[in-house]
Amino acid sequence: MQQTNSESKQGSLANAMSWLDARFPATETFEYHMSKYYAPKNFNFFYYFGWLATFVLVNQLVTGIWLTMNYVPSGDAAFASVEYIMRDVEFGWLIRYLHSTGASAFFVVVFLHMYRALMYGSYRGPRELLWLIGMAIFIALMAEGFFGYLLPWGNMSYWGAQVIVSLAGAIPYVGADLMEWVRGDFLMSEVALNRFFALHVVALPIVLLGLVFVHFVALHHVGSNNPDGIEIKKNKDENGVPVDGIPFHPYYTVHDIHATVVFLFLFCAVVFFAPEMGGYFIEKPNFEVANPLKTPEHIAPVWYYTPYYAMLRAATFPLFGLDAKFWGLVTMAAAVIIPAALPWLDRSPVKSMRYKGILSKAALGIFVVSFIILGVLGVLPAEKEYTILAQICTMLYFAYFVLMPWYTRVEQTKPEPERVTS
Ligand code: HEM
Repeated sequence: MQQTNSESKQGSLANAMSWLDARFPATETFEYHMSKYYAPKNFNFFYYFGWLATFVLVNQLVTGIWLTMNYVPSGDAAFASVEYIMRDVEFGWLIRYLHSTGASAFFVVVFLHMYRALMYGSYRGPRELLWLIGMAIFIALMAEGFFGYLLPWGNMSYWGAQVIVSLAGAIPYVGADLMEWVRGDFLMSEVALNRFFALHVVALPIVLLGLVFVHFVALHHVGSNNPDGIEIKKNKDENGVPVDGIPFHPYYTVHDIHATVVFLFLFCAVVFFAPEMGGYFIEKPNFEVANPLKTPEHIAPVWYYTPYYAMLRAATFPLFGLDAKFWGLVTMAAAVIIPAALPWLDRSPVKSMRYKGILSKAALGIFVVSFIILGVLGVLPAEKEYTILAQICTMLYFAYFVLMPWYTRVEQTKPEPERVTS
């Protein structure tokens, strides 16, 4: 019988695949991570953000590589090279705005991604390591943003970095030397610019990619959690397939395309119509070149650091012979790191907020509101009333974690269902 054209094409494809599979686990990897990775069928809106974080990461890498082609990391030329990208490089303005808006978008999606984990107890066993890897990603991301912010060598870049690096000076005994070591000079200079450039474009992207890779490996090993916080692997059919699972591909790949389109609408609206976002994404003093003799009237970091910055400034009095600046540094570092302890702080018999009691719900609500207030306070000048409010919100922020072993144990919870709900 004569073979049709399409049959012969399929035959050659199958041959090519079996050639490849004999040398590289292509089909096996695709099945393990996509077509035979069974994800819970009740994923909701909050489950879009892991994919969106991946998408933004790719955007940052691609636009970052293109920016690097025309950016010059030197004290004399950095600011002018960014202006050159904006005005003379073809579509340079677009590449820069995709990158600068991408940085803010990264934090929006990552904050929502982390909030989802708080809601559904995704940090609980068996996902403790996944959560810790996520925390390492978060810290690397904060460092990546910080180093990148100096590169345009604008006046806010300069003074922002100056304020943060000088915090190291508050550490007893080693502070002054440490500060000089980080800067490589007696003040912020081209030396710091060069090392921040190396860290921003080479070292940290490698670290981030490595961490994201192990994040995926750990996730696919333990399987995804879901809004009910129950383990779908506990309930399998005769073929070993979770009865409440559906193959990630094609169901969730298509689902995620939908999220990408909506995300791109919002993202492009900002890129094309409000890339500076009223000074919150690109701050006004950054339109002036770095000037060590001219401190901006009001130094504030970009919005995604402001909750932590407000906590840094909330420490106003010396303690145990160490000055307030040191305690501010300790408070800020503790605020960033403390979520890593969540898997061991949460003692509730259930994972998801849907089945937790009123105390957990109230604690999460208060935590979120305090975090947002701190974010707002971080951009405002440190007036007395604002500082008191920042101190209250800092205490509420930490109370969420410190009191968790207590309130998750004493409250009344609802029974978890046997199967996921829709
Ligand atoms: C570059 C940054 C990140 C990327 C690309 C990324 C990617 C992903 C993806 C694709 C998923 C599966 C889809 C989903 O559940 O939404 C996921 C799940 C998860 N991620 Fe991330 N993530 C990032 C940062 C973080 C951070 C900062 C944390 C926490 C500190 C974190 C904690 C988790 C947890 C606990 C899960 C499992 C959630 C569940 O199954 O309910 N991730 N991540």
